[in-house]
Amino acid sequence: MRAHGLVAACGALALCLALTEATNPGFVVRITQAGLDYAHQQGIAVLEKELAQLKLPDISGDFRIRHVGNVRYEISRLDLRSFHLPYSRITLVPSLGLQVAISNAFAEVDGNWRVKIHFIRDHGSFDLKVENIYIKISLKLGSDPSGKPTIDTSDCNTRISNVRVHFSGKFGRLYNLFHSAIESRFRKILESEVCRNVINSVRSELQPYLQTLPVTARIDVMAGTAGIDYSLVGPPTVTSQSLDVDLKGEFFSLAHRSTVPFPPLVLNLPPEHDRMVYFGTSSYFFNTAGFVYHAAGVLVFEITDSMIPKGFDFHLNTSTFSAFVPQLEMMYPNMMMKLRLSAPSAPFLNIGPGGLSLKPVVDIQAYAILPNSSLAPLFLLGLTGNVSAVINMKSNHVAGNLNVGRMKFSLKHSDVGPFQVRTLQSIMNIVASNILLPRLNERLEKGFPLPLPDRIQLYNTLVQFHQNFLLLGADVHYQPREGR
Ligand SMILES: *[C@@H]1O[C@H](CO)[C@@H](O)[C@H](O)[C@H]1NC(C)=O
Ligand SMILES: *[C@@H]1O[C@H](CO)[C@@H](O)[C@H](O)[C@H]1NC(C)=O
Ligand SMILES: *[C@@H]1O[C@H](CO)[C@@H](O)[C@H](O)[C@H]1NC(C)=O
Repeated sequence: MRAHGLVAACGALALCLALTEATNPGFVVRITQAGLDYAHQQGIAVLEKELAQLKLPDISGDFRIRHVGNVRYEISRLDLRSFHLPYSRITLVPSLGLQVAISNAFAEVDGNWRVKIHFIRDHGSFDLKVENIYIKISLKLGSDPSGKPTIDTSDCNTRISNVRVHFSGKFGRLYNLFHSAIESRFRKILESEVCRNVINSVRSELQPYLQTLPVTARIDVMAGTAGIDYSLVGPPTVTSQSLDVDLKGEFFSLAHRSTVPFPPLVLNLPPEHDRMVYFGTSSYFFNTAGFVYHAAGVLVFEITDSMIPKGFDFHLNTSTFSAFVPQLEMMYPNMMMKLRLSAPSAPFLNIGPGGLSLKPVVDIQAYAILPNSSLAPLFLLGLTGNVSAVINMKSNHVAGNLNVGRMKFSLKHSDVGPFQVRTLQSIMNIVASNILLPRLNERLEKGFPLPLPDRIQLYNTLVQFHQNFLLLGADVHYQPREGR
């Protein structure tokens, strides 16, 4: 049935493909029951404080007592001394949202009373115990047009089964006669005030907090050229196991955004649930980074003599290189050299169970630096190699570190006539692994930020590799704002 509906809805296959492409996430945040339990614990602590500050209205009314007559009463200065929520739990309601059930909550209230019977007036204080408060809250999650998450109360129900009022004063016992009238009015007021407060707290505290999720993350790996789009591609989905939030997960150019020419693949997260939160990071996510940086022309790297580490007894000059390219001695004697590395195409990364690898193609253009500082092109080498990456999670960032396997060099073009490239292999290997790689890794060290709302710290992290995606797991620590 579903498949038929989908085909009918899509009409043409091309449209169908476009639709599926548009909705596959590049990044998935999965919150497990353990994560929800932790969030719930924080939320309940806030709600408990909010409820203890409930403002209750004065109550007044008339009541008839047999043989006595009409009694006018007034209850004022109601003050909630405490509101306790000792038992509660949060559950996932598949395809609907979340449900919070609070049971056996209790509260204590003080207040003043005043009665008038015929010409007699009396007043005093009372205390009231409210027990067996049961609150059921249904929460619905969504996304707004800017791709930020939204949350709202779709249903709230409070039931109070036990209110006990105790009057003190000269005729206290007499007034206890009409406690039931007061108790039932009080119960109704409290029931609606609790839900009003819950709805308000979700709107004024929880929703703004969720909206601190940075849907655009700025990154400084390559001189602030790119950002990450972490906007939601649809409302979060609730299954019996987890709450999944699908994000676009795409790098984009801050200068001008263009369409990524490849689609995100389906991300099938494994049913892991040890950690509070998991981040499924598609190879699409990393490849959009390569695409954006390549298009921005920042995948260029220049190597000069001054970058050669101390302790290496060679210099980047034409006398050194004339051992491999003899004609340099004649054509450009005693000149310094410069290597310019660039990527002719965007690097493409593969993620599989064995790890993360890429086969970059790098062009290396060698120049002689002439006495008047202009550059004379010498030769152009092509470098291919197998690069593997190690992924680290450091606080709320994910950083990488590249390892290069054997590299292959080929001569693409020469301005100085033919020579044996093979002989250059060892010196170029030294340059690539001792100069290029450490500098590249230094930049990758900064990593990219994970999409997290404010005041969250991750710990107990794990990194796993799966077909087409990287799975990061962590537990969460929430740091409440000062003075709360
Ligand atoms: C070029 O490098 C060699 C060592 O590799 C060094 O002996 C020589 O002095 C250098 N020449 C210049 C001009 O720097
Ligand atoms: C630098 O010198 C070279 C050869 O001596 C010459 O061809 C080139 O035009 C000069 N460049 C500048 C900017 O003077
Ligand atoms: C890279 O790995 C592939 C196999 O995955 C191999 O065929 C190729 O020769 C390797 N390239 C280099 C430069 O080692």
